Amino acid sequence: MIFKLTKGTEVYLSSNSAQIKNIHTTNKANFDNSGRLFLSQINKSINSVSTITQKLIKMFPAEDSSMISKDFIDFIKDLESDGYLILGRDKTEIKQKEDKLQLQTNKANQVSSRDSYLINNLKHIYIELTNRCNEQCVHCYLPKKRKYSSLSYDVVKKLLDEAIEMKVKNITFTGGEPFLNKDFRKILKYASKLNFNINIQSNLTALNDEYIRYLTEVNISCIQTSIYSTNPTLHDFITKQDGSHKKTVDTLLKLKKHNINVRISFALLKLNYKDFIKVNNWAKSLDFPLELNFDIVGEINGEKSNLAYLCDNDEIIDTINNFIMEDSESLWNSLKTYNKPGSKIIDSPHTRNICGAGVDSIYINSKGNITPCACWQKLEIGNILDTTLKENWCGSEILKEIRNTKLNDFEDYYRKGFYRFISICFARNANLNSGNYKKISERDYDLAKKIELLARKLSK
Ligand SMILES: C[S@@+](CC[C@H](N)C(=O)[O-])C[C@H]1O[C@@H](n2cnc3c(N)ncnc32)[C@H](O)[C@@H]1O
Ligand code: SF4
Repeated sequence: MIFKLTKGTEVYLSSNSAQIKNIHTTNKANFDNSGRLFLSQINKSINSVSTITQKLIKMFPAEDSSMISKDFIDFIKDLESDGYLILGRDKTEIKQKEDKLQLQTNKANQVSSRDSYLINNLKHIYIELTNRCNEQCVHCYLPKKRKYSSLSYDVVKKLLDEAIEMKVKNITFTGGEPFLNKDFRKILKYASKLNFNINIQSNLTALNDEYIRYLTEVNISCIQTSIYSTNPTLHDFITKQDGSHKKTVDTLLKLKKHNINVRISFALLKLNYKDFIKVNNWAKSLDFPLELNFDIVGEINGEKSNLAYLCDNDEIIDTINNFIMEDSESLWNSLKTYNKPGSKIIDSPHTRNICGAGVDSIYINSKGNITPCACWQKLEIGNILDTTLKENWCGSEILKEIRNTKLNDFEDYYRKGFYRFISICFARNANLNSGNYKKISERDYDLAKKIELLARKLSK
């Protein structure tokens, strides 16, 4: 038998001890005098086991030679299993083992550089602190009948620690109604200590003055809330909660007074699309940024009853048309999922991802399930209660497929020529097509075409 030290392995001898170390793996082991004696016989080139044992036997004539031989062979076998040397019958076997080892090292290096690339891409984690809510909005993607669940402080703390390790900057706390999570104060304090950009999505109705004061002490980037109408009765009808409009608006104004940034989202529904301009003007008068959301998706359990409130395409186009007449400057800011004509993105459909879900953002629901986004909870990638986010983010085959799905894969859409006005939503596709997220509905094709006609009109 012969053996050879692996690449990067060095032996250090001192007067009565020794150390073996590999500079690549940084593994090291220390030995007493007997180990020192064995190591002192090993050199950098090919070593013969029998030559070394003969030398050792000569050094200790009084000892049992077979024991010396056995001890030395055990010693080098241990060193081989720890990666410090390679044992073989001849040079060919050593070379084969060496090549195999090199291949494994290359693979490991590739994996770790791929992982660090993927980790660098994760910018935003959405955390559903609870699926409980004190409203019952007609369009909500959360099923009306559901088993309640919440994430505890300990679970969220572990997730935030992992997010820091993965260099994630943005966290959005959402729900259900996140302020119904009893640990939210503690969670906010901890997230603030870790210096995340903290966003919150809330209906604001569970906040009292004391809680608002608490929010001024933690560092929050923005709170987003929905106003469905300037008419309290209509807003309350949509939320199915009497007095909710007053409570939300009052709290909104208090937050503003305390210099907490607030943003308004307007979900465009059959019930309220005629009120959109009024809400936009009201938001403008108070300097609240507003975002128009007409991408309403079905319930996360695959039910579609909430889609009864979805506007038809002509109602959406009507709303945007009125918006153009009234406030065209705000339009492009608001339709942010669409590209302005001339945007560079349109030139790269084969490389462009559809949206950020699973690409630069991820959603953790109130059961700990990891899913690409809030609206696509049927697709479970893993669970943070029994695995880490990192292993799922880097290792999930499902996420890999999502990331590899580019605009160009939707050939039809691309061929039809209105890809600039694309708002392909994987969650909506999956919801409408029994899980097939790569199939776009005719309704969405039609809407894109109509938006393009409008955009042409706008750019004249
Ligand atoms: C689910 S809520 C959770 C946070 C909080 N309860 C709220 O209403 O802001 C988050 C956002 O999702 C929007 N939303 C609810 N159901 C939706 C659906 N079916 N499709 C698209 N957005 C929806 C809401 O209007 C709200 O802006
Ligand atoms: S949209 Fe928000 S406030 Fe309305 S029911 Fe859903 S979680 Fe509750």
